[in-house]
Amino acid sequence: MRNEPIMSLRSSLADSLRLVRQLGLLSCGALFLLSACDKGGSGASGDSIPVGEFASLTGLTASFGTSSHNGVVLQIDKANTAGGVLGKKVNLITEDDQSKPGEAATGVRKLISRDQVVALLGEIASSRSLEAAPIAQQSKIPMITPGSTNVKVTTIGDYIFRVCFIDPFQGEVMAKFTLNSLHKTRVAVLTDVRQDYSVGLAAAYKDYFTKHGGTIVAEQSYSSGDQDFKAQLTSIKGSNPEAIFVPGYYNEVGLIARQAKELGINVPLMGGDGWDSPTLTQIGGQAIEGDYFSNHFSTDDTSPVVQGFVKDYRGRYGKDPDAMAALGYDGAGVLLDAMKRAGTTEHEKLRDAIAATKNYQGVTGTITINAQRNATKSAKVLTIKDGKFHFVETIAP
Ligand code: PHE
Repeated sequence: MRNEPIMSLRSSLADSLRLVRQLGLLSCGALFLLSACDKGGSGASGDSIPVGEFASLTGLTASFGTSSHNGVVLQIDKANTAGGVLGKKVNLITEDDQSKPGEAATGVRKLISRDQVVALLGEIASSRSLEAAPIAQQSKIPMITPGSTNVKVTTIGDYIFRVCFIDPFQGEVMAKFTLNSLHKTRVAVLTDVRQDYSVGLAAAYKDYFTKHGGTIVAEQSYSSGDQDFKAQLTSIKGSNPEAIFVPGYYNEVGLIARQAKELGINVPLMGGDGWDSPTLTQIGGQAIEGDYFSNHFSTDDTSPVVQGFVKDYRGRYGKDPDAMAALGYDGAGVLLDAMKRAGTTEHEKLRDAIAATKNYQGVTGTITINAQRNATKSAKVLTIKDGKFHFVETIAP
């Protein structure tokens, strides 16, 4: 039905784009014309405001996309129930990139050309935001990533924003935590070389750690989707570390925790926000208990804004929000707030209003967009106990 022709048009369109690009013929205008064949939406001139979202609703990191989507939907529904924005309802159009390389770019082209969205929300994983951001920038469509922390993302251009902190900070947070709270100075690092996020976070951690008295005793790597980490862990064990930094995503981290224990490695594992998913403890079980990671959000936060959000989220989805849900909620919140202040959804004015965001009270902290289009916020260190995440400490910028 409606889906089929669109799907096939979409893939043939992607193929022709690839061909044209290979031939080196593609200008921005050509891209626009070609994409415009993919049927027009009504744009902001219609009776609703089309906002695009691209997220990993399925695939390897499905919990990132489903959570951020839930947060976005909660925020937009709240605004629509309260009468909408600029006298119109906000119409969220979501593309599932299936956690696959290439699909974020395809989805975003479609949202821009077919649906004529006025802004984009996404992605969580940095590699996928990096793939989509140049397209948003070229088309001058403001893009807000809720959770991509890799430093490169917002350097793509002046239409690209984020509502989270960046990995140079997150790496420093975990290095400080290792040195000052765990009092460990000999650390091994195990990086996912397929993810910009993991590579950037490992580098930031090592940089701060070694400059402040720590030693990296081993460095090993793997690729997203790997299942067997025994060779890397055996080598790490031989270097006798006091802790292991694993800045990866939750699936592999859960397996790494289990295989480390099987090999008799009994030192703490540490990581970053990519650990945040209920799947981490489902896979890691007992092996991940007592380990630590940095994050954007904790349901243990007693502030009324956070507790109100937790209550609404539980009421709607029957479970606790995680960091992606909270960041999705804040990303959409910052966008709607900017639309109201701009008084228009016109690209450049909307871009300027997002850039001017100051002291927005989010559920992940107070958001001020700085000159680099990032948000400067505290990070929370969490630990895993009885299969649940618990707040340990806050580390400020
Ligand atoms: N920061 C991660 C990345 O850039 C994604 C992420 C955000 C994961 C928030 C969990 C929570 O790839």
